[in-house]
Amino acid sequence: MRTPFIAGNWKMHKTRAEARDLAAALKEQLSGVSHRLLVAPTFTSIETVATVLEGSNILVGAQNMAAARSGAHTGEISPDMLKDVGAQVVILGHSERRHVYGETDELINTKVQLALEEGLEVILCIGETLDEREAGQVDQVNRRQLTGGLAGVDAGAMGRITIAYEPVWAIGTGKTATPEDADTTHAAVRSIMADLYDQSVADAVVIQYGGSVKLDNVAGLMAKPNIDGALVGGASLKADTFVPIAQFDS
Ligand code: 13P
Repeated sequence: MRTPFIAGNWKMHKTRAEARDLAAALKEQLSGVSHRLLVAPTFTSIETVATVLEGSNILVGAQNMAAARSGAHTGEISPDMLKDVGAQVVILGHSERRHVYGETDELINTKVQLALEEGLEVILCIGETLDEREAGQVDQVNRRQLTGGLAGVDAGAMGRITIAYEPVWAIGTGKTATPEDADTTHAAVRSIMADLYDQSVADAVVIQYGGSVKLDNVAGLMAKPNIDGALVGGASLKADTFVPIAQFDS
């Protein structure tokens, strides 16, 4: 019912030439894969990657977006600009945006609404820090980030939103939530979505897991009933590591 969705977040890596080479390798090696696939290069490589991936089964996304359509926003990139270079999806609320660059749920919500209005799909990232986890606040944090991030977004738009649960302590650390732990949290996220919307929205929403996803843990995670995909950082930077993740056997 929910199509598995495997996405690579390239973060601040790769020049255009490097991005072109990786995109070309992925296009060739992933052509037979029926999972939904996406790569999110840096802003400067989106056009290059979108050109390589045109006509392929791999979507192209951005890692962030301005909270405004245009104007005096030095250093920001608008939704129109993203579409102009070929992005179809935008990742919003990544923990690095929240915790390093101070993005609030309110700001993220403005971006979510704007991206949807402008016809972009959204991957909305949520997840707790280690302190919040140790304080037993995982569901509370996810509820706050979902309620805040999705404020004003109606059920009709939910088909264009993917949720990515990325526990901050698991990102880039080599630590992964166990499949059981992650599935429990994903089930809680789904029930928050039922509270915010209804059961049919909760049943349909694709929830990716992110945080040190690798070839040796992807199948175990994806075998769980509430884990529908992966948002992959470090292991998405090489075809050798991303291809087998994207091809995981469920
Ligand atoms: P890693 O896979 O490197 O832990 O990164 C996860 C992530 O933040 C993807 O958005």
